[in-house]
Amino acid sequence: MTLRRVNVIILVLLAVAFLIIVQRNLLNLSDFLHKEHPDAAAVLPFESELSPDLGLELVRKGEEIPVLITAAEERLGAVVAVMNSVYQNSKANVVFTIVTMNDTVDHLKTWLSRTKLKNIKFKIVVFNTKILNGKVSKDPQTLQAAKPLTFARFYLPAYVPDAEKAIYLDDDIIVQGDIQELYDTSLKPGHAAAFSDDCDSASAKGIVRGAGNQNNYIGFLDFKKESIKKLGMRANTCSFNPGVIIANLTEWRNQNITWQLEHWMELNTREDLYSKTLAESITTPPLLIVFYKHHSTIDPMWHVRHLGVTGAGNRNSPQFIKAAKLLHWNGHYKPWGRASAFSDVWDKWFVPDPTGKFSPVRRHAGDN
Ligand SMILES: *[C@@H]1O[C@H](CO)[C@@H](O)[C@H](O)[C@H]1NC(C)=O
Ligand SMILES: *[C@@H]1O[C@H](CO)[C@@H](O)[C@H](O)[C@H]1NC(C)=O
Ligand SMILES: *[C@@H]1O[C@H](CO)[C@@H](O)[C@H](O)[C@H]1NC(C)=O
Ligand SMILES: *[C@@H]1O[C@H](CO)[C@@H](O)[C@H](O)[C@H]1NC(C)=O
Repeated sequence: MTLRRVNVIILVLLAVAFLIIVQRNLLNLSDFLHKEHPDAAAVLPFESELSPDLGLELVRKGEEIPVLITAAEERLGAVVAVMNSVYQNSKANVVFTIVTMNDTVDHLKTWLSRTKLKNIKFKIVVFNTKILNGKVSKDPQTLQAAKPLTFARFYLPAYVPDAEKAIYLDDDIIVQGDIQELYDTSLKPGHAAAFSDDCDSASAKGIVRGAGNQNNYIGFLDFKKESIKKLGMRANTCSFNPGVIIANLTEWRNQNITWQLEHWMELNTREDLYSKTLAESITTPPLLIVFYKHHSTIDPMWHVRHLGVTGAGNRNSPQFIKAAKLLHWNGHYKPWGRASAFSDVWDKWFVPDPTGKFSPVRRHAGDN
């Protein structure tokens, strides 16, 4: 390199440095940022991200499979069981995003770091309850039923910002197949999500008589309300269960799915649009509206459900339960509770709490 060339380079560097200084002085940096990102001031669905060192285990490389789950303090045992089952049954590079409340972070971290789960890759995100302001009824009874974390799935692209595809799982689930297979579920062009339909044969097996219209739209939405009527949806359309979601986050963003879901949440606080028969379903109705006839489907064996509807007398055969790729104890009888069906299957994946705060209820009862 000639001396002349070096001089030119130094000159250019000086000029760049000068320009940067000038720019920072003339424009306020905060103003500058504000202009570039007009949305930066918007309320985000998280307050902070607490990521531990990723990369303790270097064996699992390849494409990351992002899995979003929520962790409620009183159900932390469920979260570790589902994480353990996903991890043990796959060689894939799974990375969990765990959405939780501030008060739960320490407990969760201890549980994950002091047990055999310590090699699992995860990040913890604290849920920002402010985003629900004006979107969930202020009636204390409803508010109680509206467990804030159940809405986390509405904000999938915000929680998993760098991925194009992600999986959401409820906490009352055990995965028995290789999660890669679920992740490879193909979504049709233009679809932002895939769900498991409530009318497929595998899901129908678990439906009990007397459970009402739990498998179609009229079971979730009040078709007498004008805002619902106007949509022109058929009331007997098969509903779907949003406990397992495969999402194309690019489509989710492009179609403003989060914004649409929030719109229906807000409207419901004023117009009371959801069916009264299913008190627990306040996250399902907005999804049913937004994804009406516009979603892909998940292989039925990848969402065998209603295991929590009947309690210990569930009529599924042990062979069918064994063959299922994913088990979901939706309903009142949870596998960490007293009288659940197939709690022995769940027990295989449960990892005891090193702090001793959580333990499955039936263990206390001494009937195990
Ligand atoms: C720069 O920021 C300060 C404080 O944030 C503000 O008072 C001031 O008006 C800003 N200056 C310009 C030129 O915008
Ligand atoms: C969580 O709560 C603790 C104590 O109340 C507080 O010190 C901490 O800043 C909070 N963290 C977040 C992320 O809000
Ligand atoms: C997601 O949607 C985008 C936009 O339609 C599409 O280009 C992309 O191929 C989709 N990705 C997956 C994994 O389906
Ligand atoms: C999504 O929202 C943005 C900004 O709010 C808007 O410009 C855009 O048209 C919306 N897109 C759709 C498909 O609704």
